[in-house]
Amino acid sequence: MSFLVLDNLQKSFGAVQVVKDFNMSIDKGEFVSFLGPSGCGKTTVLRMIAGFETPSGGTISINGKDQNRLKTNQRNIGMVFQAYALFPNMNVFDNVAFGLKVAGTPKAEIQARVKEMLALIRLEHLADRYPYQMSGGQQQRVALARALAPKPQLLLLDEPLSALDAKIRISLREEIRQIQRQLGITTVFVTHDQEEALSISDRIVVMNAGRADQIGTPSEIYNRPATRFVASFVGTLNMIDATVEDPAARTVRIGDQVIALREMPGSHKAGDPILLALRPEAGSLSSTGDSRLQGEVISSSFLGSVVRTKIAVGANAVSFDTFNAPDLTMPTPGEKVTLNFSSQDLLVVRD
Ligand SMILES: Nc1ncnc2c1ncn2[C@@H]1O[C@H](COP(=O)(O)OP(=O)(O)O)[C@@H](O)[C@H]1O
Ligand SMILES: [Mg+2]
Repeated sequence: MSFLVLDNLQKSFGAVQVVKDFNMSIDKGEFVSFLGPSGCGKTTVLRMIAGFETPSGGTISINGKDQNRLKTNQRNIGMVFQAYALFPNMNVFDNVAFGLKVAGTPKAEIQARVKEMLALIRLEHLADRYPYQMSGGQQQRVALARALAPKPQLLLLDEPLSALDAKIRISLREEIRQIQRQLGITTVFVTHDQEEALSISDRIVVMNAGRADQIGTPSEIYNRPATRFVASFVGTLNMIDATVEDPAARTVRIGDQVIALREMPGSHKAGDPILLALRPEAGSLSSTGDSRLQGEVISSSFLGSVVRTKIAVGANAVSFDTFNAPDLTMPTPGEKVTLNFSSQDLLVVRD
């Protein structure tokens, strides 16, 4: 049975519906990210789960129990926010102890639990520090320890890393994931950063204007984007506008070239527009793969580990990446080239 179930969840503020028919089942111990641009409703869904907002429709259940009538403090949920929301007038120990004190936990038990939490985040030596005496990364680790101290059944993290600089962000996300695995706590992590979501999640929900566009593993989301939005947001850079040539032969037309797809959705008729996606790492100029497109080089840029070449194919600009090598010759603008790829990498996506 799923641990956290969001069933047809809705939220309107006045006349504006910001969460629409949101459905999601999360297993116990799973790490799920909500990924989407600013304003798509991620925080609103999280706040409904925590009980800070009342849904306009639908239900939330945790461990088989309907949460809609429960108050925030009855849900046993730990939360970490983007801005360091530590109590500025309390030291690290008292911040982490806060939830336990409110719950009336005996003093000796609080001592032991806080010690355990500070060991978990490797800050035992800073128990007496105040928030202003610590770096952003350290403050977020304390916020995590504070959220985990009362042994919540669910952990919600709302863009906890976005105020930190790049290097700390990467090391802290790995640390969060490692702690989450160690405790086996079911976690929902909100982010607008696709690389972050891809790197740490069991599954990702890609959100677009209050809806879940696609739910899947990082590999499914990246390799098989279902919609134009997912393909563009998650980084499948090449979107190719084509028209259906012959549905029975699974062929499409791109400018003056006709090419066969591995699969053609049943509903498509000759002449219909069809949107295709091709990941930049799926193409190459060497003649490998069972599909090819003729094009003309627009530009070629050296990005360090890869060289990204943009070529014009019909009215589309298609980028592809080649790993750097010391003897690599860069394609020159205007050069006529053949882009080779495997037909299974050319996907049909919903527009
Ligand atoms: N209390 C509120 N009253 C009115 N509109 C709100 C309120 N909270 C959020 N919104 C609106 O709902 C939409 C989704 O917001 P939010 O869930 O914060 O998005 P995200 O976290 O994905 O950036 C935004 O357009 C936001 O302006
Ligand atoms: Mg938000």
